[in-house]
Amino acid sequence: MRANSGSDSLVAIYPGSFDPITNGHLDLIERASKFAGKLVVGVLRNESKQPLFSVEERVEMLKEVVAGYRNVAVTAFDGLLVEFAAEQRAGLIVRGIRAVSDYEYELQMALMNRRLRPEIETVFMMASEAHSFVSSRLVKEVIKLGGNIGGLVPPPVEARLKRRFAAAI
Ligand code: PNS
Repeated sequence: MRANSGSDSLVAIYPGSFDPITNGHLDLIERASKFAGKLVVGVLRNESKQPLFSVEERVEMLKEVVAGYRNVAVTAFDGLLVEFAAEQRAGLIVRGIRAVSDYEYELQMALMNRRLRPEIETVFMMASEAHSFVSSRLVKEVIKLGGNIGGLVPPPVEARLKRRFAAAI
């Protein structure tokens, strides 16, 4: 899709639950892949949060939608994010911020992560205004109640969500 124009030596991690990936996440992946030499999308295996999709399904969906990006990899992880980042030789953690309400939680995590591993920096990227209201949680709620989620998630994810909720009825 695009040439790798990021700093070749910079490995960045974009972590999250991605249950499922939204167009907001995808926009951030696209933008971060321009400044990172390699961007590793880390999918948390958060069984305690009772995700709608298994970690294998979430990884599969992400791999499908980022297939066009040469410098983007997708990997599941367990345990501490900073340890996963260190294993991947990443110097940067990227998180998206949609609204001021995201900031407090993100700041807490960034400071805790810095305390655990000061050599790993966190950067916050502003969500594009078109995606500032989009979250995986709301997308699931809207489709479950029969609403239209067109344009909020990549088409293969929309199809999978429809199948999942059709099967549940
Ligand atoms: O998409 P989410 O659910 O907002 O992502 C949260 C995530 C995965 C970034 C966060 O829960 C996380 O880093 N979990 C790994 C465990 C960990 O490192 N906890 C300490 C964080 S300070």
